[in-house]
This record gives sequence, structure tokens and C-alpha cells, in this order.
Amino acid sequence: MNARSLLVLVGGITAGMAAWLFATEAPTEKAHKLTTISPRKFADSLHAVIAADREAYSRHVVERLAQAKPPVKASPEWRRDGGLPTHAQLLREAATRIQQRGAEFSYTLRGRWPLSPSGGAQTEIEQQGLEFVAANPDANFYSEETLGGRSYFTAIYADRATSAACVDCHNAHPASPRRDVKVGEVMGALVIRVPLEF
Ligand code: HEC
Repeated sequence: MNARSLLVLVGGITAGMAAWLFATEAPTEKAHKLTTISPRKFADSLHAVIAADREAYSRHVVERLAQAKPPVKASPEWRRDGGLPTHAQLLREAATRIQQRGAEFSYTLRGRWPLSPSGGAQTEIEQQGLEFVAANPDANFYSEETLGGRSYFTAIYADRATSAACVDCHNAHPASPRRDVKVGEVMGALVIRVPLEF
């Protein structure tokens, strides 16, 4: 299997699982109140899928192709360099496509030491959530917020530096505000928003 088909496979799994989660929510909500899942359960399930996908991409695509001869590296300039998109680009691309297909929920990655100005907390709740998961990496942060006149359930999950690859790449990035991030530290968080009135 080449790099492209692996990418398509991983992307397809993300979109497919998200579509499934979304589909199980909407029709059952009207038909059977008992089978409706709560926004919290919905967000937790979505997080489980995204986290598993990110791990699979990192382990089976990025790490494997870094060992290939010649190596294929993940880089923000992947289109120009003929490499692989970084995890952050892949996540954003999938999140954007899911929105374009009409999903009401959204998700994004936020950093404590972001590599770009838009990578840090963008709302008061995101800031609170980042601080909470930094102090309590094994717990999740749940809240509600109103954005653009709509109410959202907002769930925030710790994103830890699980391998040396995370810290090596981030510490070496020219825009990184920190150069000594350590393995195990909470580098940021995944933020998931589910509208409270569909
Ligand atoms: C090959 C380089 C590379 C590796 C490996 C990498 N990242 Fe990133 N990461 C990036 C880049 C580049 C961005 C920002 C890119 C963007 O916004 O498009 C980013 C963004 C992020 C963000 C969002 C905040 C920000 O900095 O913009 C978090 C949180 C994050 N990474 C955590 C991790 C974790 C945890 C790992 C390991 C499991 C990891 N990264 C591995 C390059 C990398």
C-alpha cells in the first residue's frame, strides 16, 4: 500500500465514523426519545474516533514512511515537498470536509504553545478548558457557550505529547514559543462543539 492509499484509508475511516455517529443521532432523536444520546456522550464518542484515527495515522503512516527509503516526512509544506500532511493539517482538512457535508458539530485542535496565532485558545471557555486539562490531564472539561447567537455544548480533551516525535517536531519549529516541551506534557486540547438545539 502506498502513502496515498494509506491516507485515503485513514481519511475515509474518520469521515465514515463521523457520518455514522451523526446519522445515529438525528433520526433516532425524532423516532425514539429513549435511544437519543446526550451531547456529552456524542462528544466523547467523536473524541474516541478522532483520537484512535490520529494514533493510527501517526503509527501506521507517519512513523512507517519516516523509515522508508528514501524517507517521506510529515511537513507543513507537504504539497511542495512531496511529503505527508502534519497531523494538524489532516485533522483540519477532515473537520472542514465534515462541515461542508452539513454536520452541525465541529472540532478543532488548540495548543498551549501554538505554532500559529490561530492555534491558541479563541474563546474564554477554550482558555478555561486548556488550563483545566493542563492541570488535570486525565479528566475532560465540559461546558456550554453561546457563539454567534447559538448555544453549544463544548467538550475539551487533553492532547498529550505521547511520543518523542511530537516534541521533536514542535520544539524545532521556527514559530514555536517553547523549545523544551517534554514527552508526557499536555501540549493542547481537542475542542468539540455540539449545538444544543439542532
Ligand atoms: C512533523 C511535525 C509534527 C509532529 C510530529 C507533531 N506535530 Fe503537532 N503540529 C505541527 C504543526 C506544524 C502544527 C500547526 C500546524 C497548523 O496549524 O497547520 C501542529 C499543531 C499542533 C497542535 C495545535 C496547536 C498548534 O501548535 O498550532 C497541538 C496541540 C499539537 N500539534 C500537538 C501535537 C502532539 C500531541 C503530537 C504528537 C502526538 C504532535 N503535535 C506531533 C507539527 C507536528
